Amino acid sequence: MKIQEDIVILGIESSCDDTSAAVLKNGVILSNVIASQQVHKDYGGVVPELASRAHQQNIIPVVDQAIRKANISTEDISAIAFTRGPGLLGSLLVGTSFAKGFALASGIPMVEINHLQGHVLAHFIKETEDQDTAPKFPFLCLLVSGGNSQIIIVKDHLTMEVIGQTIDDAAGEAFDKCAKIMGLPYPGGPLIDKLAKEGNPTAFKFSKPRIANLDYSFSGLKTSFLYFIRDHIAVDKDFIEKNKADLCASLQKTIIDILLDKLILAARQTKINEIAVSGGVSANSGLRSRLQDEAKKRKWQLHVPKFAFTTDNAAMIAITGHYKYIKGEFCEQNITPYARMMI
Ligand code: KG4
Repeated sequence: MKIQEDIVILGIESSCDDTSAAVLKNGVILSNVIASQQVHKDYGGVVPELASRAHQQNIIPVVDQAIRKANISTEDISAIAFTRGPGLLGSLLVGTSFAKGFALASGIPMVEINHLQGHVLAHFIKETEDQDTAPKFPFLCLLVSGGNSQIIIVKDHLTMEVIGQTIDDAAGEAFDKCAKIMGLPYPGGPLIDKLAKEGNPTAFKFSKPRIANLDYSFSGLKTSFLYFIRDHIAVDKDFIEKNKADLCASLQKTIIDILLDKLILAARQTKINEIAVSGGVSANSGLRSRLQDEAKKRKWQLHVPKFAFTTDNAAMIAITGHYKYIKGEFCEQNITPYARMMI
């Protein structure tokens, strides 16, 4: 293995429907290229087989672009970090196979990454060498994405403890499935966010789950939203069209209330005031402004990621690879991806 002063990590992310490659040098981002797949738009969700085919088409151009943008050559790369899971198996196989081939051809080590850890460590991606905005340990991270809703105590870069999680759907799924009920295209989260800005968040009331401890549940909300819409459409077939903004604002408020109730409880129980949020749903403007309000009220040190680092991206995989590289946590060529993985 080459001995290098600089740690240059090539990150690969292919867990769902975004093919991404990024280069980080000593934790500073040099490039982060994302090819989002449009092929799923007509199907109301991600079609796994189409996703893996699109990853196969995208992976080489995306990696090539990331290396060019970073203005480095392959000899400069210290290690390749790739998402091992959780995610769609066919999609993960493309990134994993690419990483194996690249590592073998270049004679560099491979680092396997848990996608969820990547979302949390997105807060450590630097844009300049002297940037010092990362959360201090220990901190609480609310991880809210399309597949997960968790509250995590982050003790150091690679030591995390999940203290609460969804027992059924994730917050992102609640956004996407309720959007589908209203006839909005996939992914519905960003559209609900946009429409909610024009609506009244207290126009409609939706039930909140009663779940013990710090766990979440969103499937009941989805079902009650479905029945609510069905009953109102029976009376007025244009109900959704007439009330779209208010429906979005009220639904969004309910999801945010559910997320915040448990996060506030977690902060109180653990006495941790350093709070971070990450994952695709952390792009939600309502959630961001509510978090700012709570942070002011409760004297939290709040960390909200840049929009580019909220949804799936390879920079978060590369930064996790950076910390695993420092610890010498490499993997072998016989590694296989996992559809299910815990933090
Ligand atoms: O983190 P992510 O890109 O993928 C996973 O790892 O799951 O998250 C995708 C999820 C989708 O459910 C999408 O609707 C949601 O994040 N999302 C949003 C917003 N932007 C993305 N949800 C609410 N408001 C947004 N602005």
